Amino acid sequence: MKYLAVLGRQPEISKAELEALFPDVRVLSESYQLFPFSTDTNINIDRLGGTLKLAVGLEEKPLDSLLKISEGKITIGVSDYSEKASQKTATMEALKLKRILVKHGRSVRVVANKTATLSTAASLHNGLSGKNERKVELVKVNNDWYKVIGVQDIDAYAKRDQARPARDAKVGMLPPKLAQILINLCGPLPKRARILDPFCGTGVVLQEALLMGYRVYGTDISERMVEYSKKNLEWLMKTKFIQSEGIRSAAARGVAREPRGDGRERRGPKMNEFRVSFGDAISFNWEQPIDAVACEGYLGKPFSKIPIEMELKEQKQECGTIVLGFLKNLIGQIKKNTPVTIAVPAWLRENGEYSRMSILDEIQKLGYNVNNKSREGLLYYREGQVVARDILILRKK
Ligand SMILES: C[S@@+](CC[C@H](N)C(=O)[O-])C[C@H]1O[C@@H](n2cnc3c(N)ncnc32)[C@H](O)[C@@H]1O
Repeated sequence: MKYLAVLGRQPEISKAELEALFPDVRVLSESYQLFPFSTDTNINIDRLGGTLKLAVGLEEKPLDSLLKISEGKITIGVSDYSEKASQKTATMEALKLKRILVKHGRSVRVVANKTATLSTAASLHNGLSGKNERKVELVKVNNDWYKVIGVQDIDAYAKRDQARPARDAKVGMLPPKLAQILINLCGPLPKRARILDPFCGTGVVLQEALLMGYRVYGTDISERMVEYSKKNLEWLMKTKFIQSEGIRSAAARGVAREPRGDGRERRGPKMNEFRVSFGDAISFNWEQPIDAVACEGYLGKPFSKIPIEMELKEQKQECGTIVLGFLKNLIGQIKKNTPVTIAVPAWLRENGEYSRMSILDEIQKLGYNVNNKSREGLLYYREGQVVARDILILRKK
């Protein structure tokens, strides 16, 4: 199947996620924001933190595909990613299609373009997410046309991020999308894989892994964080799942039926799908099995302005000792080829670049392969953010 992924803010990370998860991906061309590829694997956008929209290649003209839609009012949107695209070119394409459809007796609404492409929110809120046959978003890239089959459910991410009972701004708020990316960078995992997060904090990785249908195991050096993770996961088990259908069906593996008090039943993972306990990642003996490790490690001091050279040196020393100590402790407790994805800190400098820890050689010496495509690192940050997350993709040799 020929797909087009519209990538998130940090396209390199989004591409790495797709390539890790679908090893049969054949990249059709390289572009900054778009990732045209083919794969034989079915893709569920709700599992992908880094893809904003997913479209499939049209084998016929867009009009012919629209004319096949069954009776009823049609809503169309056009996103034009062609080189010289503008709000005007996209609107013209949409109106041209509308005119012909109207001539064929169809009733048509066009979603207005503010720019050449519709934002994720515009697509989602106009129902153009591929779930309704009569609400279609067409994507144009020069002479190629695609039809959107999935849009990132930004509302579902926001809800499950904000509704958790135990949150802590100090440990940093790992966006659920990034938690999904960290898990996906482990590559394809067996259905009931058990994922370890040894720096679990408030449990965002654990939560997302559970929602993806995995079993989870979290440890943390802070008793308070252990309590927070427990509280959040217990809440997750009890709440009606705040997520889109795609994840719900993935999470429905190992389902338990819990009484809701109103006579109906709710589906969700079993309470014993997760375990959270106290543990120092540098010395802890984890309970087996561990099929994959996905985590955001200790990120050091939160900075609101660029640290001076001495602070940077101290932070690198402190964070480096923890991550290397953890990886050393872990290596004897996991099997060959076990994937380990870890986000470590990198610090903004005056020149606008991020300064990373020089730990890759050390990590290899400990017995891991570093699978990042480039030594430049996969940096996740918001504009101007002082502490970025540098994602390391490792696997035990
Ligand atoms: C950046 S936070 C992770 C936040 C987490 N991703 C979440 O969802 O909230 C890092 C966590 O590592 C924990 N930590 C720091 N040093 C540790 C160690 N040596 N062993 C285990 N946990 C540690 C901290 O208590 C903190 O909760």
